[in-house]
Amino acid sequence: MMETFDKEFLLQEYLKPSPQLLRDIINIDGDILILGAGGKMGPSMAKLAREAINKTNIQKEVITVSRFSDPDIKNDLNKFGVTTIEADLLNEDDLKKIPDTPNVIYLVGHKFGTTGNEPYTWAMNTFLPGMVAEKFKQSNIVVFSSGNVYPLSHITTGGMTEDRSASPIGEYAQSCLGRERIFQHFSQKHNTPILIYRLNYANDVTYGVLLEIARSVYGGKEIDLTMGNVNVIWQGDANEIAIRSLLHCSVPGKILNVTGPETISVRWIADEFGKVFNKTPKYTGIEEPNSLLSNAAECFKLFGYPKVSLKQMIELISYWVIEGGKVKEKPTHFQEREGKF
Ligand SMILES: NC(=O)c1ccc[n+]([C@@H]2O[C@H](COP(=O)([O-])OP(=O)(O)OC[C@H]3O[C@@H](n4cnc5c(N)ncnc54)[C@H](OP(=O)(O)O)[C@@H]3O)[C@@H](O)[C@H]2O)c1
Repeated sequence: MMETFDKEFLLQEYLKPSPQLLRDIINIDGDILILGAGGKMGPSMAKLAREAINKTNIQKEVITVSRFSDPDIKNDLNKFGVTTIEADLLNEDDLKKIPDTPNVIYLVGHKFGTTGNEPYTWAMNTFLPGMVAEKFKQSNIVVFSSGNVYPLSHITTGGMTEDRSASPIGEYAQSCLGRERIFQHFSQKHNTPILIYRLNYANDVTYGVLLEIARSVYGGKEIDLTMGNVNVIWQGDANEIAIRSLLHCSVPGKILNVTGPETISVRWIADEFGKVFNKTPKYTGIEEPNSLLSNAAECFKLFGYPKVSLKQMIELISYWVIEGGKVKEKPTHFQEREGKF
């Protein structure tokens, strides 16, 4: 049994706003609107922004918009002092009712279930961005995108940098590039400052690549090594970068890779969890020489290295798995090499 008090304490520490966020939140002019806030990242991002505002004693509202398919998320955000608006953004009347806000973080996207329902994915990932870009043309917009817009790259290259051509594999990834292109078009047309935030695998104790590997090791399930390497980042760090990115929106839009600093071997991750659980990981497949990898050096130049390290994430997630903590059953499908989601 692991020592529990320390880990709970650490988890709380890892979710707190950093001094850098407290400094930046003061310089973000006006309220912050988070669109698509009902998913994995939105609730913790909204709370982090709210906590940073409270700590700095400034006046600023955090407004979240989602369908709030899970009403508990809406109630929890309200209790935390975050404003919630229930809306289906694809519905024009709903979109019109959302207040114009100087700072927008756009999290909406559709990935899983794309195969067989491609038209919906394209509507969500390219048509809706056009509606949103028109409506919020006076705002700064941080547009969430994905490292999936890059092709697989050789593990010796250090991952794709922002100046490399996007070459998405499969319709989900193609529609993510479409989302970027539509926002870029309207940014140029209306002089709207934007930042395109290309994320590779956020992780917390309830979801993510690390948790998936940990649960496989713990449950004695085989781990496919074909996608042999990954990039990961602590969700709290990714949230901080998203909020602080509001100060780096520009015309033409800035593109930013957001992930951790390491190219990490999946086998190594499993072995690390195996040591904690005292279990031998079971493997299938052989590592291919290329993987979906991003290089986030530009992000570290702007914001510094992530606060929570890889080994700290592994430690916390091990604890969570052993304790049987609540998890979100939302697998990343990080092993997918053909772009079929
Ligand atoms: N998490 C990661 O590791 C990761 C990695 C790469 C890229 N990304 C991208 O980053 C973004 C945020 O990530 P996430 O993990 O928080 O995504 P997510 O879990 O898919 O959350 C997005 C939320 O948007 C809301 N939404 C969907 N359609 C909507 C609509 N028509 N109107 C209003 N709200 C709608 C949904 O919540 P409701 O059901 O409540 O409306 C959904 O849960 C996504 O675009 C994702 O693709 C994430």
